[in-house]
Amino acid sequence: MGNINACVDLQRDGDVAVIVMDNPPVNALGFALRDGLMQAFARARDDAGVRLVVLTGTERAFSGGADITEFGKPPREPNLRQVITAIEDLPKPVVAAIQGVALGGGLELALGCHYRVAAPKARLGLPEIKLGLLPGAGGTQRLPRLIGIEKALEIIVTGDPVPAPAALALGMVEAMLDGPFPAAAVAWARQNATAPRRLRERTDKLEPARADAGLIDRVAAPLLKRARAQQAARACAEAVRAAAEKSFDEGAALERQFFMELVKSDESKALRHVFFSEREAQKVPNLPAGVEPRKVLRAAVIGAGTMGGGISMCFANAGIPVTVIETSQEALDRGLGRVEGNYNTSVKRGSITADEAARRRALLEGKLDFAAIADADIVIEAVFEEMELKKQIFRELDRHAKPGAVIASNTSYLDINEMAAVTSRPGDVLGMHFFSPANVMRLLEVVRGAKTSPEALATAVAVGRAIGKVPVVVGVCDGFVGNRMLARRGAQGERLLLEGALPQEVDRALTDFGFRMGPFAMGDLAGLDIGWRLRQARGTRAIVADALVEAGRLGQKTGKGYYAYGADGRTPTPDPEVEKLITDASASLQIQRRAISQQEILERLLFPMINEGARILEEGIAARAGDIDVIWLHGYNWPAYRGGPMFYAGLVGLPYVASRLEAFADASGDASLRPAPLLARLAASGEGFGSVGTARG
Ligand code: CAA
Repeated sequence: MGNINACVDLQRDGDVAVIVMDNPPVNALGFALRDGLMQAFARARDDAGVRLVVLTGTERAFSGGADITEFGKPPREPNLRQVITAIEDLPKPVVAAIQGVALGGGLELALGCHYRVAAPKARLGLPEIKLGLLPGAGGTQRLPRLIGIEKALEIIVTGDPVPAPAALALGMVEAMLDGPFPAAAVAWARQNATAPRRLRERTDKLEPARADAGLIDRVAAPLLKRARAQQAARACAEAVRAAAEKSFDEGAALERQFFMELVKSDESKALRHVFFSEREAQKVPNLPAGVEPRKVLRAAVIGAGTMGGGISMCFANAGIPVTVIETSQEALDRGLGRVEGNYNTSVKRGSITADEAARRRALLEGKLDFAAIADADIVIEAVFEEMELKKQIFRELDRHAKPGAVIASNTSYLDINEMAAVTSRPGDVLGMHFFSPANVMRLLEVVRGAKTSPEALATAVAVGRAIGKVPVVVGVCDGFVGNRMLARRGAQGERLLLEGALPQEVDRALTDFGFRMGPFAMGDLAGLDIGWRLRQARGTRAIVADALVEAGRLGQKTGKGYYAYGADGRTPTPDPEVEKLITDASASLQIQRRAISQQEILERLLFPMINEGARILEEGIAARAGDIDVIWLHGYNWPAYRGGPMFYAGLVGLPYVASRLEAFADASGDASLRPAPLLARLAASGEGFGSVGTARG
């Protein structure tokens, strides 16, 4: 508890006032912190014994920026701009002493100070664009004045944080200090902070842009192309242009106007929903208090196929030794060879050094005997999707794994409870569903079986995080959350082809929506035989998809699938043969083909998925709508600025989604398209999916 208020402390070190922000966890600049800063700086200004001020935070954070939870609520003064102006106006030199992060409003606060020093591990940035916003407290005006237009634009439009050494080289900070903090900063201030210096009065760094009218567009163009939140990116560029072309006050007013517009945009609401949903998903629902994850120092993976190899790499990359088990030397050599190849590619691309690759490779060992899993704290089975084979392996794992080891299956749809039942320790069994390529995709569905213990679950989630994944806990059902919803989309894709659409039209509806690939191009990439095999096993059919496979069109790997692939083997081109195959299929079913609008295609693909998401929520397979959104963002490349399927449904309006589903069900006679009871109920009551579980809407 500080002596100014609960978030701010003012200490004296001789003639230096040290103002400490302490608002855990990350010094978000909520009302109490802003108010405390206002009071502390007034006291420092009025105290004749104070010659200099050092503003600092905690080791974790100088400040993580504006308090995002306050967005959309009535503003309370002092606002952040008033605090920053009061600091900048102080007639005594103010030094920002930055440890940990100075992000968004946190960096803007530091830019209001007259000098900045940082610890070597500090990170400085303006990540607002990642929330669909622009820096709203002078950042677009002060940063260009400090480091020039070009670098400022890059930092603002990418949103990527700058590590302290790079910040020093750019001139964002005057010095890098080893510490201890704040003593080292006080000593530095006594030596160097001679007089107040106000960034808003500085113009020298703006001169190149003022002398060259095309400069900003040249620098901004490639940055805008790559930016994920387009509306925010354009606003960032315009605000920086104003810094060059107008006065500070005019530029700051324009920045403010953009901020107020963006904070109300769907793009920003979606990205803020994603920010909180990702953090909420990490909180495992219904875990008894006090449950701690078990220590995991060593892992084992059963199977060195594509998935097994990728999963093993995740452990090695995180510094955890991993043993890979195979049944034959040949299969093992092939699997480890593929891993080696992946590392070599990373070295060639420059993403890791040869030494680093060798270090990771050394953490991976191959064995032909289940006895080699005896030391592993977690064992992940990643063999072919066949229940009898999995059960056989689970019996072996039960025999050889040490007591307390977590035993997981990387199945994408099979029943974990059946596997658990063949072991003597169902409490330690769960699913860990990785997405291909496992060493790249971040989603991890952690499947909680009927008997999975809280400790085992907490351990799997902690391991997932340790290996850089985004773990989301789900319940047992066919396909879990992601693939169960995907199946609904797949069925509609096939239906749309039969009714009159072509693959490229269906794919375009989703790429225009923001997906990187449509379902058919994606199917060609993954291999159409995967779905075919699954349908064979289940005794189901998909007329078009099956006909393609049976004609030898398995996707990119055979040079043709839903599309033909040219010389590079990767660029899809519409193929008249496929069109004929589809129209023949329609004719054989006596379906009169018709023109289908892009809007209908989009709704037919997305709304049945959302409906399935509602069933998943209702059954408790996912605990929160936000969890489903996180799964789609990280496992299926749902565009972040659209917030995830359940959030998107709220934007479109649940009553509209429900009414369209009714219409689809009427037109097709497919009763599974009728709105799920939860969707119907929420549509009628006017509530959103966020009201279910503990997710934020
Ligand atoms: N506002 C409110 N809460 C915040 C927050 C913020 N700016 N930043 C972090 N938090 C919360 C998180 O929600 C999380 O809460 P729970 O523990 O309840 O889930 C907690 O702080 C810890 O966050 P992380 O789990 O993310 O911790 P970390 O150590 O991994 O990362 C961080 C810390 C780098 C600061 C990261 O949280 C982050 O990137 N935060 C967002 C930073 C940001 O975007 N700031 C700009 C805000 S917009 C702005 O400032 C506008 C303006 O110009 C006026």
